[in-house]
Amino acid sequence: MSTDMTFKKLGNSDIRISSIGLGCMGLSEFYGAPVSREAADKLIAHALDSGVNFFDTADMYGSGHNEELLAHALKGRRDEAVIATKFGIVRKKGEYARTVCGTPEYVRQACHDSLRRLQTDHIDLYYIHRIDVDTPIEDTAGEMSRLVEEGKIRAIGLSEASSATLRRAHAVHPVSALQSEYSMFTRDPERGVLGVTQKLGTSFVAYSPICRGLLGLLKPGGEEKDFRKALPRFQGEAYERNREIAERLDELAQSKGCTLAQLSIAWVMAQSENVIPIPGTTKICNLTSNLGASAVALEEADLLAIEEILSTHSVQGARYTEEGMKGVNA
Ligand code: ATR
Repeated sequence: MSTDMTFKKLGNSDIRISSIGLGCMGLSEFYGAPVSREAADKLIAHALDSGVNFFDTADMYGSGHNEELLAHALKGRRDEAVIATKFGIVRKKGEYARTVCGTPEYVRQACHDSLRRLQTDHIDLYYIHRIDVDTPIEDTAGEMSRLVEEGKIRAIGLSEASSATLRRAHAVHPVSALQSEYSMFTRDPERGVLGVTQKLGTSFVAYSPICRGLLGLLKPGGEEKDFRKALPRFQGEAYERNREIAERLDELAQSKGCTLAQLSIAWVMAQSENVIPIPGTTKICNLTSNLGASAVALEEADLLAIEEILSTHSVQGARYTEEGMKGVNA
């Protein structure tokens, strides 16, 4: 294992996670065709060998495909990994339209199904993926706490929850992680929830820290099944303007001798000690490069220069379509 990796405690649990995790979604869906099982095996083995132990998946990524891919890749190495998965977004296979469900019966059934696909007897961190506004969060968190008692899950998490929901759930059972989109281009968590995680001792898991590739200067949408083509900030004029901001930030990255993706991950980590980024990639070269973000030292002057760019050029377009915003910040 790489000796360069540093580890952190996951919230108030006794689980030790690498300070950078791996987002596995793109291996199955949303950013184009799924990768082969062999490619996923190699990527995940390489991540483990590099010291990454925190793997992020969800039952809905590829309708179970992503969990199965991860299970296969972790055969014989399950003990080295901290598996985080999620339930609560209900979709028909291949369709984006969704409903959100957090009823106790659904939580229990979803957990059972994820355990089977993951071929494991416990999930290390189990999140509700989006907040079901029709089910009191106390009911959802209550059932999750029973799953902890039964040893089926080790820790509980919420994804895209508001500060108020986080506090309510935490009163039922300690919430070890709050996961939300967070990057230089998506700073919504700074409006409250990030501060609440700090107060509660909850880890803040930052997904899409390179803004789905935009902060890697990636031009997405080449593949037919790339959902970014539908996202407002990747379209037309908005994309062109956002790309210009990314290029300004890239100049800064170059002056620091790093890539823009590394700068983006380092920026997220610099915002608070409890932030754990989980950049997603399907490629070993990008994984290796992204882990290099730990070595990027951002000085006060760098952070100010970034603020200057971001305050003079506002990011254009919402991060999701209206459908994708269901259960977000709820
Ligand atoms: P998510 O959390 O949704 O996966 P993200 O981590 O912000 O989003 O970005 C993931 C996207 O950035 C993917 O399209 C990934 O493409 P590859 O699978 O081809 O790597 C891309 N990406 C990841 N690391 C990158 C890097 N170092 N440079 C450029 N693009 C990168």
